[in-house]
Amino acid sequence: MSRIAYVNGLYLPSRDAVVPIEDRGYQFGDGVYEVCEVFNGALIDEERHLGRLARSLGELRIDAPVKPGALKIILREVLARNKVANGYIYLQVTRGVAPRDHVFPQPSVRPSLVVTARQIDPRKGEAAASKGISVISTPDLRWKRVDIKSIALLPNVLARQEAREQGAYEAWLIDDDGLVSEGAASNAWIIDETGSIITRQVDHSILRGITRTTLIEIIAAQGLHLAERKFSIDEALRAREAFITGATTLVMPVVAIDGQKIGGGVPGAVTLKLRHIFHNAAARST
Ligand code: PDD
Repeated sequence: MSRIAYVNGLYLPSRDAVVPIEDRGYQFGDGVYEVCEVFNGALIDEERHLGRLARSLGELRIDAPVKPGALKIILREVLARNKVANGYIYLQVTRGVAPRDHVFPQPSVRPSLVVTARQIDPRKGEAAASKGISVISTPDLRWKRVDIKSIALLPNVLARQEAREQGAYEAWLIDDDGLVSEGAASNAWIIDETGSIITRQVDHSILRGITRTTLIEIIAAQGLHLAERKFSIDEALRAREAFITGATTLVMPVVAIDGQKIGGGVPGAVTLKLRHIFHNAAARST
């Protein structure tokens, strides 16, 4: 079955789904995106993803390409046309198409909207989670507004590639003070010897992950202790457990950092419990 993409008002087979070369996303990375998990036919935490999209657009002064109600219909149509029940939906908004000039187009142009969906066998994620993943650390080379979910991801791409070349799945990005910002495409967490769950506080230096936000609610409901603060790789190496969160990985155990085992090299019990609980607690919309 050919995959179907939504591009600026049209549902097209992927091979025919193209944007003009002067799209500012292509020219400048001038756009934002969201990735939302699809689980048993439902969108997970859709409202939060759409809320973050609105915020990212606002920060960059890009207009919404369509009204929220229309966007929800498009998301469902793309899922239906691709018969995706489990996997994720990707949506991207750019400032639009205009002759190349760094300055915003004047008069303004219509923002571009692209939506794609991908089916993923949930057993793959479960298999990865039962073994856990490895991460490496690498300098955080990104700009100072990574709270905006911009499509300009070159440092993230390079970090993930470095991880792959070292046999790891994710890269933890290290800020100028030697502390972990987050993963190249995930938030970073550790659990210390007292059972306290630690993740960096939100500011302009990390993306406020939707999975992170929902997991914080779960942690509170479970009566577990949370500390939102920075931590170093040294502290992470001494941690009892470690994990990452993201819409495509959910709660994914980390069993090695820079080649050194965490928690004996097997997924932590608290991490696996949080992963297990996640879907019962996250909002589902169909
Ligand atoms: N990435 N931090 C970064 C830099 C990310 O790119 C992501 C998500 C997250 C986790 O956010 P959320 O829980 O909302 O997915 C944190 C997506 C999945 C991606 O780029 O594919």
